[in-house]
Amino acid sequence: MTPEAFDIAFCRSQFPALALADGAGPRVYLDNPAGTQVPRQVIDRTVECLTARNANLGGYFTTSLAADEIVDMAHRACADFYNATTPGEIIFGQNMTSLTLHMSRCIGKTFRRGDEIVLSRMDHDANVAPWLLLAADLDLTVRWMDFDPDTYEFPEDALSKVLTERTRLLAMGMASNCTGTISDVKRFAAQAKAVGAIVYLDAVQFAPHHAIDVQTLGADFVVSSAYKWFGPHQGILWGREDLLKQTFGYKVRPAGDDLPHKFETGTLSHEGMAGTLGAIEYLEQFGAGSTRVERLRAAWSVIAGYEQRLTQRLIDGLRSFRGLTIRGITSGNAIDRRVPTVSFTLDGHQPEALAKDFARDNIFVWSGHNYAIEPVMRMGLMDKGGVLRVGLAHYNTDAEIDTLLASLARQIKA
Ligand SMILES: Cc1ncc(COP(=O)(O)O)c(C=O)c1O
Repeated sequence: MTPEAFDIAFCRSQFPALALADGAGPRVYLDNPAGTQVPRQVIDRTVECLTARNANLGGYFTTSLAADEIVDMAHRACADFYNATTPGEIIFGQNMTSLTLHMSRCIGKTFRRGDEIVLSRMDHDANVAPWLLLAADLDLTVRWMDFDPDTYEFPEDALSKVLTERTRLLAMGMASNCTGTISDVKRFAAQAKAVGAIVYLDAVQFAPHHAIDVQTLGADFVVSSAYKWFGPHQGILWGREDLLKQTFGYKVRPAGDDLPHKFETGTLSHEGMAGTLGAIEYLEQFGAGSTRVERLRAAWSVIAGYEQRLTQRLIDGLRSFRGLTIRGITSGNAIDRRVPTVSFTLDGHQPEALAKDFARDNIFVWSGHNYAIEPVMRMGLMDKGGVLRVGLAHYNTDAEIDTLLASLARQIKA
C-alpha cells in the first residue's frame, strides 16, 4: 500500500475528541507522545465492558464468564499487536512504569553483587530509574550506553564499549520520547544476547508509529502503553515464554503460577483491557490481510508513510526559523530513523513560555524534560528549560502543522 492510501478524513471521523473546539478555536493535538486521543471503538469497548461484563474473573455466572472472555480477547489482540507466539506472553499492568518497576524486581531476583547492567542515556526515566533502584539494592555496577549529541544516534560501538562478560541486562528504548530517534535495537540486542544478557526494550514511543515483531527483535521483554497508541491508560508487557516461566513472580499465594497470572498481580483494569482491544480493532482497519497480524503490519506501514511526510513538513517549517535548533534527526534521507516527535529549542525563548503561548492558540504541546532526564542532561539542556516538544500522530494534518508554524511566527514577532 502507498501512503496515499491512508484516509485521513475517515481516520479523524473515528475520534470524537478531534471534533471538539474551544473559544480559541479547534483543538490541535500535538501532545501525542504524552498520550493520544481515542477512537470510538475504544470508548465502545470500554463502556460495553463496564455495562455487561463487570465482575471479577473465574466465576460461574454470566458477568464473570463475560469478563473472562474480554480479558482473553485482549490478551490475544495484544499478542497479535506484538506478534507474540502465545497470549500467555502478554502481561497487563497499570502502565509501563509500574510494569517495569515490578518486572525489574522479578528479573533481578537472580542478579548478584558485582553483576553489571547497561542503561541508555537516550531513555525515558521509566526504563532507567527502576534499574538504578535495583542496582542500588543489589550493589550492581551500572554502565551507560551513550549517544552522540550531534547526531542524536548511538554510535556503532556504543554498546560494545560497555558490554562485558558480567553484563546481565541491557535496558534500552526503541524510540526516544525526546529526540525521536529510532534506535537499532535488533543489532544491540544481538550483541547483548551474545554475552547472555537479558534485553528489556521500552517500546512506548515506537508502538504508536510502527509494527512491533517480537519474533524478530531478539529481545526478551518489550513493553508499551496503550494510551500512547490510541487506547486507554493501560500498560502491556511482552516477555519470552521460556524466560517468563523461569522468572520469579512476586505475587500473592492464591494467584496462579501459570502465565500470565504469575505476573498479573491483583485485579486488573478489565475495562482498560477491553479498551486496548478496541484500539487494536481500530488500527487493523487500515490494513488488508487474512490475519490480524498481517492487517496490523499493513496498517502501520500505511500510517508510517503518512506520518513521515507530515514530519518532513514540520521539520522543514521549523528550520525556516532563525535561532531554532531541532534536537533530533532532520535529514529527509533519515526520516525512517525517527518517529514524528520533534523537539526544539529557540534562542531567546524558554520552552515553557512557548508552550504557554501555543496553549493560548489551543495548540497542545509539551515543554521541559518530559521525564527524558538522561537525554536532556546529555544535550546540556536541563538548566535551560529542556525542549519544546511537538509530537505528531497519524490523525494530525498538514493544516495543523501550518497552524503551529503560524502561531510560532506570531510569537516570535510579538
Ligand atoms: C519512552 C517512554 N517510556 C516510558 C514512558 C512511561 O510510560 P507510562 O506512563 O505508561 O508509565 C513514557 C511516557 O511518556 C515514555 O515516553
